[in-house]
Amino acid sequence: MNEQKVILCQGLDESLTQVISQCPHDKLFILTDEHTNRLCMPLLKAIPTLQKAEEIRIGAEDVHKNLETLTQVWQTLSKQGATRHSLLINLGGGMVTDLGGFAAATFKRGITYINIPTTLLAMVDASVGGKTGINFNGLKNEIGAFAPASHVLIETEFLRTLDNRNFFSGYAEMLKHGLISTPRHLDELLAFDTERPDYAYLKQLVGQSVQIKENIVKQDPKEQGIRKALNLGHTVGHAFESLALAENRPVLHGYAVAWGLICELYLSHIQAGFPKERLRQVNQFVREHYGCFNFDCQSYERLYELMKHDKKNTAGIINFTLLKEVGNISLNQTADKTMIFEMFDFYRECMGA
Ligand code: GLY
Repeated sequence: MNEQKVILCQGLDESLTQVISQCPHDKLFILTDEHTNRLCMPLLKAIPTLQKAEEIRIGAEDVHKNLETLTQVWQTLSKQGATRHSLLINLGGGMVTDLGGFAAATFKRGITYINIPTTLLAMVDASVGGKTGINFNGLKNEIGAFAPASHVLIETEFLRTLDNRNFFSGYAEMLKHGLISTPRHLDELLAFDTERPDYAYLKQLVGQSVQIKENIVKQDPKEQGIRKALNLGHTVGHAFESLALAENRPVLHGYAVAWGLICELYLSHIQAGFPKERLRQVNQFVREHYGCFNFDCQSYERLYELMKHDKKNTAGIINFTLLKEVGNISLNQTADKTMIFEMFDFYRECMGA
């Protein structure tokens, strides 16, 4: 798999102009959704090299991450004369970078693309690492490909206007990166003043977070081993996300991951000796900033079934990434049903659910 270059921008216009000059192309396309078209596109359109770029605009949010929208992107590329030598810039959150990346990976067997993530979640996770795709048949990211962007340009200035909920949604993935890396980085994240963010310091933290992900992806781009570390919090998190969606009370991905981290750190404590004090610290941070996902014991069976159907499992055995301590990762762990139900009891008790 090609390596991608991740650039923490000092100025988006300069970095982008430079990157575009390194990507020979005949035509240039910019993909946005209705939000980033309004809020972020004017910044790009002011850059001289981009003034002739063709625009493709799609609907915002996960409901549009589907085959119809993908077809719309393919059709526009085709109608506007895109060739195998055209270049696509994806400007948006994870939905735009995932779908745009997949459109680029498949159009004429693959054209070059650049990601410019505009949300914290997309900066530290979705836009980096080459996972692209769409939802299909009611399943998230069911169709897709590993196809890295040639460049990912991270402009943290976009974070100044990000709403609180989307900020914390991305921050959950940063906490996960803290947990799988070093006690020092985790402590920095737990101590960060999220009420009055110091944006220059946040930029440094985002840079560190992206580097943690990049290092892992470089070692294992197709998730056969160490990349599974990035699934910490996600086995339970995805089940919470699906239950919430089925009960018509959807939650943001990062919130589900934060709640999933509480559960999986408890499991780590019981099964791998993860320190109790660390578990307490993370619980407190999540309780304070993410509130609680409420469910009663009647939902345990449903959550368990959802976890059994996760695409990360083999032969129906629920796969967890657990921690012995911060940065000490145990891949391919499992837990039986009794243990999983005990984990839900713990979560509800400590979160006051
Ligand atoms: N979001 C986890 C990964 O990219 O592997």
